[in-house]
Amino acid sequence: MKGKHIILGISGGIAAYKSATLLRLFIKAGAEVQVVMTPAGKEFITPVTLSALSGKPVVSEFFTANSGEWHSHVDLGLWADAMVIAPATASTIAKMANGVADNMLVTTYLSAKAPVFVAPAMDLDMFAHPTTSRNLDLLRSYGNTIIEPASGELASHLIGKGRMEEPENIFKVLEAFFAKQEDLKGKKMLVTAGPTYEKIDPVRFIGNYSTGKMGYAIAEEAASRGAEVVLVSGPVDIMPRHPAIHLVKVESAREMLAACEEHFPTADYAVMCAAVADYAPADCAATKIKREGNEPPVIHLVKNPDIAKTLGMKKRDGQKMVGFALETDHEFDNAMSKLRSKNLDMIVLNSLRDKGAGFGTDTNKITIFTADGGETSFGLKSKREVAADIIDTLITL
Ligand code: C5P
Repeated sequence: MKGKHIILGISGGIAAYKSATLLRLFIKAGAEVQVVMTPAGKEFITPVTLSALSGKPVVSEFFTANSGEWHSHVDLGLWADAMVIAPATASTIAKMANGVADNMLVTTYLSAKAPVFVAPAMDLDMFAHPTTSRNLDLLRSYGNTIIEPASGELASHLIGKGRMEEPENIFKVLEAFFAKQEDLKGKKMLVTAGPTYEKIDPVRFIGNYSTGKMGYAIAEEAASRGAEVVLVSGPVDIMPRHPAIHLVKVESAREMLAACEEHFPTADYAVMCAAVADYAPADCAATKIKREGNEPPVIHLVKNPDIAKTLGMKKRDGQKMVGFALETDHEFDNAMSKLRSKNLDMIVLNSLRDKGAGFGTDTNKITIFTADGGETSFGLKSKREVAADIIDTLITL
């Protein structure tokens, strides 16, 4: 944790007194910590204590009243290697989930490019309320990590789930996170993502419903673990956030193959996540195909290259390749035959029969098969968590 930059966000709950211990643990481990408090947070623990422990003035207001100096949440968001919100009250969680940026903590959260850890703390009924559960699910779906509260006696003297996790345990989560960040250091990963568009004429194409979310989550997770990532992406509406991701935008399967062939020889890992069109029109009409006075056109299709298979055949010693199988039936057999025919080391199966899996969703439910006979099924998770499971397995191969 030495030299790491941590933003410690503190909102207004009784557990705020434990944040001083958490801050102390971070400082003792060699981290630099910037405390950001909500106005309510300051009612529970004073900024004086926290600035003395962190060695930095606490940030809470957008401006310093007497000098007019602006506190840039944007700069802070870029500075951080991790942001921890402890305690996170029901109100702060709701604001974060819905982008209610009316205080420095939430604006900083929205600007933060680094992973965010949320340690809820509230009374048991507030924690059990479906509103809180939904907001926490939203935060999870955005890739944030929720550090579950513990059960026990609460400030209200009621007993139940809602106590902020102990500072020592929150510290351990961050320690493990920073250790994991290094496990792809010095490695290069090629990732394909999104659909391909195969042109019919200048205004029409054959495409599919892929949104690129799974591939982009893999790219983000790999980059956050120290890898240099080349993300070859078909047309999608999302942008990579991590600076170590080199984005190569392509449209057709042929363009995707060309980009992959350029980067594959120097890659240690290749993760083939794109939903590549199997066929493309044999010719792209030079001008828009007109409806008037014409018979319905016949579009002749030709087979697209299988990018995963092409690369799989060229795989050299030490390179590891992952493919995906999105299936509607005979899931196991289809996945295993793709694993073998494309010379993959691992295949990730998702079935369209599973609710919350596949195209467009923020979640996925996968089973991983490895070439050496391993099989692991996972529950429904956010695509970022699924990405972490995939990479955890990949680095053990
Ligand atoms: O054969 P199928 O399309 O189901 O295989 C899926 C896997 O192969 C995915 O990993 C996908 O990215 C990859 N693939 C590819 N090029 C194709 C077709 C599939 O890289 N033309």
